[in-house]
Amino acid sequence: MPNAAVVWSEETIQWVGPYQEMPAEYRKETIIDCGRKLVVPGLVDCHTHLCFGGWRGDEFELKLKGVSYQDIARNGGGIASTVAATRGMSLGDLTRKALVALNGMLALGVTTVECKSGYGLDEANELKQLEVYRQLNRVHEIDLVPTFLGAHIIPPEHRNHRDRYIDLLCQVLIPRVASQGLARFCDVFVEDGAYTLSEAQRILITAAEHGLGIKVHADQLSDGGGASLAARLGAVSAEHLEYVSPEGMDALASAGTVAVSLPLASLYLQEPFIPARDLMRRGVRVAVASDFNPGSAPSYHLPLAMTLACLSQGMTPQESLMGVTTVAAAAIDRQAQIGSLLPGYQADLAVIDSPSLNHWLYQFQANACSAVLKRGRWVGGKGHL
Ligand code: NIG
Ligand code: FE
Repeated sequence: MPNAAVVWSEETIQWVGPYQEMPAEYRKETIIDCGRKLVVPGLVDCHTHLCFGGWRGDEFELKLKGVSYQDIARNGGGIASTVAATRGMSLGDLTRKALVALNGMLALGVTTVECKSGYGLDEANELKQLEVYRQLNRVHEIDLVPTFLGAHIIPPEHRNHRDRYIDLLCQVLIPRVASQGLARFCDVFVEDGAYTLSEAQRILITAAEHGLGIKVHADQLSDGGGASLAARLGAVSAEHLEYVSPEGMDALASAGTVAVSLPLASLYLQEPFIPARDLMRRGVRVAVASDFNPGSAPSYHLPLAMTLACLSQGMTPQESLMGVTTVAAAAIDRQAQIGSLLPGYQADLAVIDSPSLNHWLYQFQANACSAVLKRGRWVGGKGHL
């Protein structure tokens, strides 16, 4: 909308429309002129692994030399090495490390972040990651939406008796996480080398019985039927889907499950990109997220993911923007509160120093965000309108 105005009071948007039509009562209020800049809903990064110890820069070179992500994992690298590094860090150090990333995200215009556990993989360390999120949620402007991913991989010490770990998840951890309000969702990585369909089903049904919403890391490295499982269990989202089958796509469409695309993970793993056009043609909404983690997506740059969604997933700039706003909000079940600039919505917005949406996603910049409004307060961006 050209020459648009957004009116908010306290934390809530009151009115949106062409400036010329703004009701007289609002003209007496402070008016902030954004010039010719673009104003978008605060961005929602609906899939991250925000809290982790260490990094895996050495695997980057191995992958470039042709060693696969799965082979690196089989040789003790990959997710298991991040689990060891995360177990070795204190709550305070993990919190400070995640805070650095959150500050960077806010500066880019991101105002809500879904964040998964999954690098602790035992009782103390999964709870430690979720405690990092609880503390950050209290002190940081960004709203965090935590997800329990205790079923990321089978922890190394349980490799020869995986059922014991799954019992721990279902009998101890899920009930505890749910009753303490430490997570809103439960996610499972369904893949060779991670969890089988029947294991995932048991874990997710238990989670649902305890009131957690359901998410699935599905069909990332192979078509393992994860999308159909997500649909069958009424998951709010199925994530990755690089190898989703046509049946999986139709199942997602009928269930209304959101597909979360993670183009940075495809880029870094040199895997196929999600078939976004096929999904949308079949009626599936496609979100776009960073997947920020030390292995498959070491960047939290959501606008870069948006540009890639256009270039490599065949999405239009408008679909890409919807993918990080209203559709991303749906992927975390917050579509009635955030992700849209409409009366009654939370006053979260980003001012982008670009003349149009097309121009923003076409001219990739380190940071095009001039200012960020969160719950009605100016909190981030480069700070100059
Ligand atoms: O979303 N697929 C599984 N989990 C992460 C990667 C985690 C890692 O490599 O540390 C993902 O890509
Ligand atoms: Fe992920």
